[in-house]
Amino acid sequence: MKNNSISKIAKTSLLSALLISGISWAKKPEIKETKINPIITLNGFTFSDLNKNGKLDRYEDYRLSIQDRIQDLINQMTDDEKASMLIGIGMPGFDWAKMQFTAGKDTAKVPGSAGGTTAISRLGIPSVIVSDGPAGLRIKSIREEDSNTYYATAFPVGTALASTWNVALINTVGKAMGNEVKEYGVDVLLGPGMNIHRNPLCGRNFEYYSEDPLIAGKIAAAMVNGVQSNGVGTSIKHFAANNQERNRMGVNAHVSERALREIYLRGFEITVKESQPWTVMSSYNLLNGTYTSARKDLLTTVLRDEWGFKGLVMTDWFGGYNGFGAIMAKDVVSDVAKQLTAGNDLLMPGLPAQQNAIVEDIKSGKLSKEEININLRRVLELVMRSPAMSNYKYSNKPNLKENAEVTRQAAAEGVVLLKNNNNVLPFTSKSAPLAVFGVTSYDFISGGTGSGDVNEAYSVSLIEGLTNSGFSIDTELEGLYKPFMAAQKEIETKRREKEGLLATPKRLPELELNQEVIKNKANTSELALITIGRNAGEGDDRKVDEDFNLAQDEINLIDVVSAAFHAQGKKVVVVLNIGGVIETASWKDKVDAILLPWQPGQEGGNSVADVFSGKVTPSGKLTMTFPVKYEDTPSAKNWIGTPAENPTSVTYEEGIYVGYRYFNTFHVKPSYEFGYGLSYTTFDVSNLKLSSSAFADKMNVTVTVKNTGKIAGKEVVELYLSAPAKTIDKPTEELKAFGKTNLLQPGESQTIVLTLNPKDLASFIPNKKAWIAEAGSYKVAIGTSSLNIKQTANFTLAKEKIVEKTNSAFAADSEFTDLKH
Ligand code: BGC
Repeated sequence: MKNNSISKIAKTSLLSALLISGISWAKKPEIKETKINPIITLNGFTFSDLNKNGKLDRYEDYRLSIQDRIQDLINQMTDDEKASMLIGIGMPGFDWAKMQFTAGKDTAKVPGSAGGTTAISRLGIPSVIVSDGPAGLRIKSIREEDSNTYYATAFPVGTALASTWNVALINTVGKAMGNEVKEYGVDVLLGPGMNIHRNPLCGRNFEYYSEDPLIAGKIAAAMVNGVQSNGVGTSIKHFAANNQERNRMGVNAHVSERALREIYLRGFEITVKESQPWTVMSSYNLLNGTYTSARKDLLTTVLRDEWGFKGLVMTDWFGGYNGFGAIMAKDVVSDVAKQLTAGNDLLMPGLPAQQNAIVEDIKSGKLSKEEININLRRVLELVMRSPAMSNYKYSNKPNLKENAEVTRQAAAEGVVLLKNNNNVLPFTSKSAPLAVFGVTSYDFISGGTGSGDVNEAYSVSLIEGLTNSGFSIDTELEGLYKPFMAAQKEIETKRREKEGLLATPKRLPELELNQEVIKNKANTSELALITIGRNAGEGDDRKVDEDFNLAQDEINLIDVVSAAFHAQGKKVVVVLNIGGVIETASWKDKVDAILLPWQPGQEGGNSVADVFSGKVTPSGKLTMTFPVKYEDTPSAKNWIGTPAENPTSVTYEEGIYVGYRYFNTFHVKPSYEFGYGLSYTTFDVSNLKLSSSAFADKMNVTVTVKNTGKIAGKEVVELYLSAPAKTIDKPTEELKAFGKTNLLQPGESQTIVLTLNPKDLASFIPNKKAWIAEAGSYKVAIGTSSLNIKQTANFTLAKEKIVEKTNSAFAADSEFTDLKH
């Protein structure tokens, strides 16, 4: 970069920083025009020599609106430059020929980042750096020829965060994550991930929040608001209907418009409206016959025109191609014209062939200048608001210490207590060692793999966490497990290295212990802890055998340990260190307590120990259903599409009946229901009041929660609404609001106010192209799970309400009918 352009960047950047940081016309700068150069002073800063010609280009002139400045930049760009800004800079440090990151010095501004936008130095346009992901910033922690380290905090995975049902806490997590994004020189975090858990086998469910769009949308909005409060951006992903990993770049998801609008898009809609993420990432898959990155109805009509999204849409990495084979054949490009005109402004990570194709399309008239200027304007708006533009001097020293405390707390609050017979937990006795079984206890899983992974400095295992809390651990078991675990891990690491970039993790086998050893431990230790571990990541889905279902070695372990310990009158606690739902019905009766911390981030062992010991009272709730058997899952019949080995087509025949909407409406008994989670204390929920018995524009629902037990704790109140279903089939109830109490001391009460808006009463009626609330009687049910309803009340809606009219969208490309009851 030439000196001249460097100084231009710096100056333009500083100006825009001031502008963006909210300096308004109320504080008008003083401008002294001189013959040669304008000298501008603003709030103590002086700018001079803005241009070597003594002239202020319009794009540099902060007195103009951002839009005017952007227009000026566009006017000055060549077609090549325009095209270069509509694709990314490629994947920094990635060697496509070898399909691996190149060894040696990574020249990327932030090594390990996922990409960025193109810089045009002659115009002072810097590159905006984007990096994964949902559980924390994913960058390289060690750099060549650099003795500093660049570790980021591994926060709990998305599912664990959502299990807190605590939007204020998630906002705090977002603030902490955003601090690392900003201080490591990144502009946009590629997260949160918020696809719906359509099926428990999706390999990326751990990154996502829930089977329910309300909880997904509210948690994502809190996260986005938290991250973005740092002045950096987010990318909510993957928009939309990316609910499986197998053949994710080539599978066509057939989904009805109603299921899309009520389930698969609704979470994104809530997040867009409540937090305005800087960017949205379109997904890999096709939706009703067209790649989502090329669907105008999705990216423009619905996202922008109906929901009011103001930011930029980027593709997922190489989105719009059918598979990596096509990408490797470098002359094959996605349909760039279709993607750009659909409203997908930025093609990531960007390949030269795409840039050429854009230039060709401009030349041939396939892409008009007006059309690409719309995309370009959005890319430039992103650039203008980025820390890169204001030349932010990032410290490379984020608040790692404080953030470790945030993740510890968030993970503890995300722990779901599934079972606690005879109050075996909290466990406080420290008179004898704990017998800790299960290979995962010694190699705790902080998070999943792929782009959802984080390069953290350390990860606290369960035994370390328990030790830190003052428990003693049986050393003989530790001595047997640790070397076994290390050996198994080495085999697994070698396998993954051999299989390459996209190899997904496999469960480590269990150590087969001598029965005598176990019996002996039942004598000498106080309690048995068994950890069951699961890991998964992008690129493949989970399996039913030995993954959703426990493997025989795990069943044996539970059987033998439970029999031996129960024979001695001792208890058995299971810890589920998993990223997605597993089968629990067949073995849960054999053990005394089950703790579900999911994959709880780098402080995981400490967080679990905090709950185990009672330092934290569990208050997490399931954001999805745990079915009795996999086959009970409503989407099991058409999972994973056809042909199964490489599905090109999958039909969402279950329609809106996803998760509890199905289990409750069709009376299928789950093992643990949506919204479920126990506490160490008890709560009374009473005094349900509606602000009116007839709905007008809004309804306030008030309820009082009292801690009736002996230990301080928090409770979640869940509002389920049953709507009249005269014109259209509806689930028996749907979650429409929730709230979490503060930490209530024994005897303390708190009143929670939840609000219902017209859209909460409405369903999407396809043939009327509208969200309509039917006239009639509505039932409000307040529960502490979807099946544990504490209070109900009714209100009426006198006249049908057309809440929102929608545009034509998502025409079907195949014939099927949604499930009805
Ligand atoms: C993933 C995205 C991720 C991107 C960049 C893709 O493979 O699907 O979630 O943000 O890579 O790393």
